[in-house]
Amino acid sequence: MRAIEWVGGKVRLIDQTKLPLKSVFLELGDYREMVAAIKEMRIRGAPALGVAAAYAAVLGAQKVEAVSQEEFLAQLEPILREITSSRPTAVNISWAVNRMRRTAEGCPNVREMGEALLAEAKRIQRQDEEANRALGLLGARLIQDKASVLTHCNTGALATGGYGTALGVIRAASEGGKINRVYMTETRPFLQGSRLTAWELVEEGIPATLITDSMAGHFLKKGGIDCVIVGADRVVANGDVANKIGTYTIAVLAKENRVPFYVAAPISTVDLSISLGEQIPIEERSKTEVTHFMGVQVAPEGIEVENPAFDVTPHRYVSAIITEKGVVREPYDMGLRSLMDKSNDG
Ligand code: MRU
Repeated sequence: MRAIEWVGGKVRLIDQTKLPLKSVFLELGDYREMVAAIKEMRIRGAPALGVAAAYAAVLGAQKVEAVSQEEFLAQLEPILREITSSRPTAVNISWAVNRMRRTAEGCPNVREMGEALLAEAKRIQRQDEEANRALGLLGARLIQDKASVLTHCNTGALATGGYGTALGVIRAASEGGKINRVYMTETRPFLQGSRLTAWELVEEGIPATLITDSMAGHFLKKGGIDCVIVGADRVVANGDVANKIGTYTIAVLAKENRVPFYVAAPISTVDLSISLGEQIPIEERSKTEVTHFMGVQVAPEGIEVENPAFDVTPHRYVSAIITEKGVVREPYDMGLRSLMDKSNDG
């Protein structure tokens, strides 16, 4: 199952706003359609957003009419900026756009630009799937036998270039016969847990139980959950983690109940340019996501609403960060820095 693919000169997406009731595929041939699909969360999840941003840059470059590389880069730049600003919290978007920019800068022949950019976008997707599989195997080692695991949001094949991050760890552990049961929160207000994670786990045949977000504390306290695993939209230098709203609550409850809390994310989600979690930009989404449920209004007219899409979990609540290059524990600043150095060495 692939959330996103390049097929016949277009980007093919499964529309995640329609799942699990309908499998609707979109074929997008204009970068503006891609930007709209990202904003409307037809494609979502930090690593999948990186892949989507890269393919959007390929489509954007097709709009450029230039004879010199200098002109090409000048026309491409505003397009790259528009793609970068589509969603602010997932650092994978700017990470992928920067790779696409560097590819364009490294290709002096304008006629070869399209091919070079497409090759780079495909490489970003392929490397993301490889990273997911590698971190899945590393993370599975942390899971005890016959474990029951709690997860939040959707971090599976739908949220990545393929396979999944936190859900990749769960899949790898399940393939090793280690998973007793997965508990997933429904993840209000966009329901990535009940709509998407539940769908992926039912498709995979992994035993899974859906709970509401507000039940997490009850289940962590009563025992029977061996660890929590979530993904990330941005991991910063001190190990603080931005992830789907509600993650912080679960992390605090996990620590209170002595349940390990793991974060699984590829290196592309690590942002060492930011030192503290408080500096991470948090996306504020439409009020109607909160006031309406499946298009039906469930709150009174005139009520004030806030809808931050992410929260930040301070690193003191994080037992380990699982990446494709290794598992990092406190002190995170040193561990993350040495992982990034390792990753830059290839
Ligand atoms: O708003 P979303 O659905 O894009 O948020 C997704 C998450 O918060 C995921 O946990 C995160 O991006 C990691 S996905 C592998």
